[in-house]
Amino acid sequence: MEKGQQLYEGKAKKVFATSDPDCCIVSYKDDATAFDGAKRGTIAGKGAVNNQMSNMLMQMLEHNGIPTHFISELNQRETLVRKVSIIPLEVIIRNVSAGSFAQRYGVEEGIVFDAPTIEFSYKNDDLHDPLINEYHALALKLATKEEIDTVKALAFQVNDILKAFMKTLNVDLIDFKLEFGRSSDGSILLADEISPDTCRFWDSTTHEKLDKDRFRRDLGGVEDAYQEMMRRLLEQKD
Ligand code: TMP
Ligand code: ASP
Repeated sequence: MEKGQQLYEGKAKKVFATSDPDCCIVSYKDDATAFDGAKRGTIAGKGAVNNQMSNMLMQMLEHNGIPTHFISELNQRETLVRKVSIIPLEVIIRNVSAGSFAQRYGVEEGIVFDAPTIEFSYKNDDLHDPLINEYHALALKLATKEEIDTVKALAFQVNDILKAFMKTLNVDLIDFKLEFGRSSDGSILLADEISPDTCRFWDSTTHEKLDKDRFRRDLGGVEDAYQEMMRRLLEQKD
């Protein structure tokens, strides 16, 4: 399908129109930002890893009953997806304390929760993506009650499936962020990406970080961590 006009450019991806009004092309960049864009850099090969990893994981989720925007991979960095209007809520699931959870509540990283947690951020760059609860999201008409219920149920299902899958790669799924969208027929689809940019992955044996925290925290070995996650995924596929 022909790449049309650019519709959107985000920090890590560009979105293009196509001749089909229900389809878009997503193009993944190597650009990386953290802390609300305050830290900037590039991670060589990240766009290709995130594109291919996200597509493999979305297909695996589809097979397990999760509706996603994925249609087909076009090349290393580009994917054809269903066009959606993104619900401006970042849905964050956590299995283990880390990141902003550990900071906000003054606890160490690595505490395994008895049950996963869920939280939402209001996706709004001007406001720096503040935490928001369901009632506030409803008051702001960001989504309907039914949509929020659907999104929550899907997010916990994704967690169950993804956590079990990652375990087969000897990776612990610590936490992750999802975004959902509404398609032209009103159905809710998992959109955006699932990658080391949007998940925390720790090696189950060594607890080594295999995700964007290596960039956020200047831990070194950023490119290697992305490649290592991709290697494990491809190895599992064969
Ligand atoms: P946090 O601990 O910084 O709140 O991050 C929780 C998870 O969400 C982590 O896996 C990284 C992911 N995340 C994003 O995908 N985008 C973001 O802008 C932020 C802040 C976190
Ligand atoms: N991508 C986000 C930003 O640039 C934050 C992050 O992933 O840490 O601000």
